Amino acid sequence: MITRPFLLLLLILGLISCYCNAWPLPFPKKQSIESNPNITQYYWYNQILNHYDEQDQRTFAQRYWYNDLYYNYNKGGPIILYINGEGPVSGPPSSQQDATVIYAEALGALIVTLEHRYYGNSSPFQDLSTENLKFLTSQQALNDLANFVLDFAQNITNFNGKIITIGGSYSGALSAWFRLKFPHITVGALASSGVVNAILDFTAFDEWVAHSAGNDCADALRLVTKTAELYVLSGNGLKIKTMFNAQTLVEDGDFFYWLADSMAEGIQYGFHDQLCLPLINAMNNNGDMLATYANYTANVWGVYLGTPAEYATSWQQNTTHDIEKADRQWWYQVCTEFGYFQNAPSSGSIRSSFVNMTYHKDHCLQVFGLLKDGSQLWPDTEAVNYYYGGNHTAGTNIIFTEGSQDPWSRSSILHEEYATEPLFVVTCENCGHCVDLRGCPGGCSEPNNLFEVRNETLSIFSTWLE
Ligand SMILES: *[C@@H]1O[C@H](CO)[C@@H](O)[C@H](O)[C@H]1NC(C)=O
Ligand SMILES: *[C@@H]1O[C@H](CO)[C@@H](O)[C@H](O)[C@H]1NC(C)=O
Ligand SMILES: *[C@@H]1O[C@H](CO)[C@@H](O)[C@H](O)[C@H]1NC(C)=O
Ligand SMILES: *[C@@H]1O[C@H](CO)[C@@H](O)[C@H](O)[C@H]1NC(C)=O
Ligand SMILES: *[C@@H]1O[C@H](CO)[C@@H](O)[C@H](O)[C@H]1NC(C)=O
Ligand SMILES: *[C@@H]1O[C@H](CO)[C@@H](O)[C@H](O)[C@H]1NC(C)=O
Ligand SMILES: *[C@@H]1O[C@H](CO)[C@@H](O)[C@H](O)[C@H]1NC(C)=O
Repeated sequence: MITRPFLLLLLILGLISCYCNAWPLPFPKKQSIESNPNITQYYWYNQILNHYDEQDQRTFAQRYWYNDLYYNYNKGGPIILYINGEGPVSGPPSSQQDATVIYAEALGALIVTLEHRYYGNSSPFQDLSTENLKFLTSQQALNDLANFVLDFAQNITNFNGKIITIGGSYSGALSAWFRLKFPHITVGALASSGVVNAILDFTAFDEWVAHSAGNDCADALRLVTKTAELYVLSGNGLKIKTMFNAQTLVEDGDFFYWLADSMAEGIQYGFHDQLCLPLINAMNNNGDMLATYANYTANVWGVYLGTPAEYATSWQQNTTHDIEKADRQWWYQVCTEFGYFQNAPSSGSIRSSFVNMTYHKDHCLQVFGLLKDGSQLWPDTEAVNYYYGGNHTAGTNIIFTEGSQDPWSRSSILHEEYATEPLFVVTCENCGHCVDLRGCPGGCSEPNNLFEVRNETLSIFSTWLE
């Protein structure tokens, strides 16, 4: 199923390794890697499938990349472990706009990044049946990272023994949790928009969409939702779905979930102005709200953020692993661990009340079926928060960053609680999810504190590396 074109290269690199000076634990020096010929090239790591069963010897191939453009193999330096989340990876951070690259350049760090198990080319199984998905847990993923980075780091010539983790969103939570679980392996973590608080009935998400949209835009979005509901309830569902190119969403719940998500993602990813300004304009001038919204979904959302097809229950029921597809895997993670079910709040909702707990519970059932004992998958978010700490994640040297308009910030850290866990909020219009790492695709409004937050982050990193 997985071809391994570059195993040979790894073997050659392995042959030229030498065992030189003693090295402080946990990184004995092997000195085999002294340059990466092509940073966009991926390599394979042979990973343990089940870190919690000594009798299960199975392994799978996991992809990784590394960017050593800023690392001086003669002088040595730290490693930044960039943690990936719920999707395929296309390469290591390498754009000059990317904060991870800015930090690596300033610190002379080598960036290494591992694809998350079950996503992209790193799936242990070709068939993503519910049974086969059982090794898809955040705890397994954290063990993957530890296993991998310990092995990788000992091959890097003159690595100084200091690892910083960086992640955003779900992988931001993994970054914080990695520091909790493996404090002896890292010196600190950046959790950008790290969704560390598993919330079952996540109505606060929609409320923050409304807050960030602003009153006029929130009203316009509610009007679009209401009009769409009228179509569906009067038997004209297909007509409006066709208008949005969403005919594949046969189930009305899926359609309303998509409609809500396409609005929320505009805010979440910093396209506030592209979403809101035309709608407010149409609302104030008796324009056609649905046509205006359809234009946004075609020209902004559809171009940058997704396709309606992925929202269909039938799409997610398909168990064939596809390196481009991530929806079934992510739904598995929310239906078993995190919830984050973005239900309609009882008042002032942007989204349709069709998107409620009944929808989510039914969706987990439809997509993953009944278990052997007749029950269905459903997350115990309280247990997850007991395990990791939820919004009281109590570690040391963890930086939390948020975007002021990001609805996901409601499931992250909102108050500084511990002395060595600073919280920085990047504040502006269009400051969305992971804004400190990626900036604002739609343009951050001025003034904003993006560069101050990056500078603060970098100076804290420097103290960790002293
Ligand atoms: C680097 O690797 C990428 C991905 O495999 C490949 O497309 C590209 O041709 C390689 N570039 C060079 C110069 O070898
Ligand atoms: C590190 O080097 C050893 C051989 O010295 C090799 O077996 C291993 O695969 C390497 N690990 C990584 C992640 O490159
Ligand atoms: C459609 O959206 C594009 C991109 O946001 C915008 O440039 C264009 O003016 C919009 N057209 C209409 C008719 O609203
Ligand atoms: C299931 O997904 C695979 C991989 O994307 C695709 O080739 C296949 O056509 C899909 N099956 C159905 C019934 O849609
Ligand atoms: C809850 O969602 C279900 C499925 O989407 C829908 O049939 C039901 O009417 C919703 N309940 C309310 C109170 O809106
Ligand atoms: C933690 O999250 C809960 C919601 O799950 C919220 O009620 C509480 O205020 C939050 N606590 C802090 C310190 O942010
Ligand atoms: C960030 O730091 C750089 C280098 O130390 C400095 O030149 C720049 O003025 C700082 N920017 C802000 C906004 O603090």
